Amino acid sequence: MQQPPDADRRVVLTSGVAAVVALLAGGCAATGGTPGAPAADAPDTPDAPDAPGFTPVPPSAADSLAVPPGYEAALLYKWGDPTGMPGAMPPWRPDASTTAADQAVQAGMHHDGMHFFPLAHDGQRGLLVLNHEYTDEGLLHGDGARGAHSLERVRKSQHAMGVSVIEVTAGPGGWQQVLPSRHARRIHGNTPMRIAGPAAGAPAMRTALNPAGDAVLGTFANCAMGVTPWGTYLTCEENFQGYFGGPGRAPADLPASLRRYGVAPGGQWVDWWQHDERFDVTRHPNEANRFGWVVEIDPMDPTSTPVKRTALGRKRQESATCSLTRDGRVAVYMGDDGRFEYIYKFVSRDRVRPGGYAANRDLLDHGTLYAARFDTGGRGQWLALQPGAPGLATLADVVINARGAADAAGATPMDRPEWIAVHPQSGEVFVTLTNNTQRGLPGRPAVDAANPRAGNGTGHIIRWREAGADAASTAFDWDIFALAGDPAVPGSAARYPTADADAFGAPDGLHFDSGGLLWIQTDMSGQLMHKGPLARLGNNQMLCANLATGRIRRFMTGPRGCEITGCVVTPDRRTLFVNIQHPGETSDDGGTSGHWPDGGTTRPRSAIVAVRRTDGGVVGT
Ligand code: FEO
Ligand code: CA
Ligand code: CA
Repeated sequence: MQQPPDADRRVVLTSGVAAVVALLAGGCAATGGTPGAPAADAPDTPDAPDAPGFTPVPPSAADSLAVPPGYEAALLYKWGDPTGMPGAMPPWRPDASTTAADQAVQAGMHHDGMHFFPLAHDGQRGLLVLNHEYTDEGLLHGDGARGAHSLERVRKSQHAMGVSVIEVTAGPGGWQQVLPSRHARRIHGNTPMRIAGPAAGAPAMRTALNPAGDAVLGTFANCAMGVTPWGTYLTCEENFQGYFGGPGRAPADLPASLRRYGVAPGGQWVDWWQHDERFDVTRHPNEANRFGWVVEIDPMDPTSTPVKRTALGRKRQESATCSLTRDGRVAVYMGDDGRFEYIYKFVSRDRVRPGGYAANRDLLDHGTLYAARFDTGGRGQWLALQPGAPGLATLADVVINARGAADAAGATPMDRPEWIAVHPQSGEVFVTLTNNTQRGLPGRPAVDAANPRAGNGTGHIIRWREAGADAASTAFDWDIFALAGDPAVPGSAARYPTADADAFGAPDGLHFDSGGLLWIQTDMSGQLMHKGPLARLGNNQMLCANLATGRIRRFMTGPRGCEITGCVVTPDRRTLFVNIQHPGETSDDGGTSGHWPDGGTTRPRSAIVAVRRTDGGVVGT
């Protein structure tokens, strides 16, 4: 693909890391936001002093979505819409009377991480690949959360998570889904997949269904994501523990790979185990070891088998953000979203080769897994996780219980690491620590340099620079980019790069566009929003930060009850695709807090929103 001369020069001059990516990537996928790959026809004005140039939107408590003046937002692919496989397009039913088989070929619930893979050189046609994180059982089933339990109901729940691949195209009326599409695909909780890397075949991965320990049915709890330099999609299995359970209570001798991850009989959120016995940990404890991984998907081949890449370590997986080392290997940055959990990095043994996925099929199976230690004075170390600690005799043990290995290595317990983003030119890395209200409580870890607020209800964003600007380094410098919260609240200790920043709380989603604008998405809980220190900030929202100026501006506010998470700016920077997750989130008594997007008394539905400037310009500038 042709690159504008200025963009080429910028990349080569400013970052060896980015330059290597640009050289290796090639092809359409490389322009879909791969770190360092310059946009095909982006203007070379990403960091103009006054950007972001839009008029910020005010906080909102309305059951609607708002974008700045001069922008328009269009809906795509709401929960229950057909994915588009030819001959399998059952329509949405407002009463949720669709079957499990229908749900397997429709949009899942709770859209999260997402990426755009162009199919055409003009970027006006492509694939959107997106995660479906969890289910709201009360909305999913026609008879609500307390309906009669059955295997059909379990299957519908399993089919409502996973990943969608949809084809979209831009026309005079805006972006539309292509129906049907030969590219369309649903991957869900029962899709066959392969297990690869150090844990494949290990005793702890073997089950009655798969004695070889090298294959598994399904992925679910899919939260944040990543894109490899060779154009595959990485989906992250986050809160898998909520779907495993069983009768009775947790025995005292529960294996560490279950205990350390919160898997236990009686600990389930949804009673799948009653009708699908592989989720009964009292009968099949190893099944839970086969979740919590990064799963690699080739979006261009709807017949390909997804692969769980165990070398990257098992966690409540949050982000698998790729960068390149100076010598052309891949580095994958990952968070583990639990209170006092860790930030990880995987560095491959081998260099990325030109030739797409076919040339890099095993690249994520060999390498070194690290966890981060944040020291005082803005210094940090990557600690290699290796066999040797008690209970961690083999590399398989280490990756299956990566949390235990990071404990043993002395990594820094963080305030719930969520998304990680790499600056496309500088290679600087940003991570959201969404909140941790238990920080500093009696018996819990105290505040430290990188997690400096007790009872951290509003979260913060840290950035680090690898030593020598090399993603393979084992040392880094770090600082705090923002302490989120409302500075108007006495004692909040909120701190932003500039005094006039638009305040936000609980940062979660994070995305750099190819021009270096940082898009920040929030996931304030209902309790925080309505009763806590963030009440004045209204519904969850999305902001745009310009690192050259330090300015942060509120770009979007979401409808009631939603979180905003997962976004991607197209290579031409003219469209921003954003996911609106769990609008109208239900309360414990079964009521909904809103009815977006269809209004009236309808079931609220997660959806993609395509945002463009009405004048066709670059978004965020
Ligand atoms: Fe699914 Fe931690 O966000
Ligand atoms: Ca998240
Ligand atoms: Ca969150």
